[in-house]
Amino acid sequence: LAAADLVVVGSGFYGLTVAERVASQLGRRVVVLERRSHLGGNAWSEREPETGIEVHRYGAHLFHTSNQRVWDHVRQFTEFTGYQHRVFSVSKGQTYPMPINLGTINQFFGRHLGPEQARALVREHAAEIDPDQVTNLEDKAISLIGRPLYEAFVRGYTEKQWQTDPRELPAEVISRLPVRYTFDNRYFSDRYEGLPVDGYAAWLQRLATHALVDVVTDVDFFDVRALVPAGVPVVYTGPLDRYFDFGEGRLSWRTLDFEQEVLPIGDFQGCPVMNYADPDVPWTRIHEFRHFHPEREHPADRTVVVREYSRSAEAADEPYYPVNTAADRAVLARYRERAAAEPDVYFGGRLGTYQYLDMHMAIASALTTVDNVLTPRLTRTAVVA
Ligand code: FDA
Repeated sequence: LAAADLVVVGSGFYGLTVAERVASQLGRRVVVLERRSHLGGNAWSEREPETGIEVHRYGAHLFHTSNQRVWDHVRQFTEFTGYQHRVFSVSKGQTYPMPINLGTINQFFGRHLGPEQARALVREHAAEIDPDQVTNLEDKAISLIGRPLYEAFVRGYTEKQWQTDPRELPAEVISRLPVRYTFDNRYFSDRYEGLPVDGYAAWLQRLATHALVDVVTDVDFFDVRALVPAGVPVVYTGPLDRYFDFGEGRLSWRTLDFEQEVLPIGDFQGCPVMNYADPDVPWTRIHEFRHFHPEREHPADRTVVVREYSRSAEAADEPYYPVNTAADRAVLARYRERAAAEPDVYFGGRLGTYQYLDMHMAIASALTTVDNVLTPRLTRTAVVA
């Protein structure tokens, strides 16, 4: 740490993007500290040893962006396949395309409706609830898409995601429920989409290969922070509340549990992600990782599936999605004030800002921090030195 011009806490996309840019653009030495035994943060992937199938260890990661700068930037480090994400959902014994689109609506109501007719039907169902009288998530969802679609696709899934009856969840948990009045069932509508040709691990490792970047794994920043020389800036991408010893209270998160299994068949579900909307099935979705890379050679007689379960995070769990209640926002505002008063620490990334960020957003935000904050700061240091 003594030789570092910059210390980065956390080696996810945010931290590694900062480290790579500061090394390659500013010629500064960066030490990245990572608590886990591998770099890469939550986008990390590994080959399942028995099948060689790439599994995203902390949940499926699909890259998509409409940000031209990010797209140009990331392609310096990886090529992308032409993968386009599509999701299906099982509800009461039938399989439907997601997000809800004309195909879903026609199949569900057993009709042949065009866009305008489908819109009119959903509007008619949604009119059951006056949007001004909404007091909970269930009412809000019905006011958006009507009761029949809500009960088939949203109620059970939401109950499992939050382990709470949707009538007891605040309406603010959802602002919109996307319904597409076309047969387009692509999950993302961004201009660019794909998966890294040789996997996430290879991409993330390439970000760390610059001679001026050292990534040290199995080190918790809080065990070594006294060794950071005075005046050396720190980019911190760990949990914001942890940095301040939870002094303002804990920010609440949802976590996921994953149950991975190798099955003795070539194809389990015929698609990468199947949602389970019914409350009596305990998992929210099943990922079958071979389908993310149809261009690769995979065993014909084995496949890897991962069942995903969702629940509120306890102190020892991995924080995945910010819950972001009104109480969380009040606590967050206090932490933000304290963060702004730390002269040498820059808070960034998903955990450091208590924000759900897609990969492209984390990368865009890291590039902006390098431009607007670190470049002036580290260049100023050089002149003074
Ligand atoms: P990230 O969490 O990746 O990295 C933070 C790192 O800091 C971790 O490695 C952690 O161990 C380390 N750390 C924390 N405290 C520390 C300490 N005290 N000392 C040392 N190290 C410490 N995005 C997308 O574009 N498409 C997708 O499909 C998905 N899917 C998805 C699924 C799930 C379940 C989640 C939770 C997230 C996604 N994402 C996603 C979002 C994606 O994971 C996210 O954009 C990146 O992980 C953001 O990178 P960060 O660097 O901010 O955090």
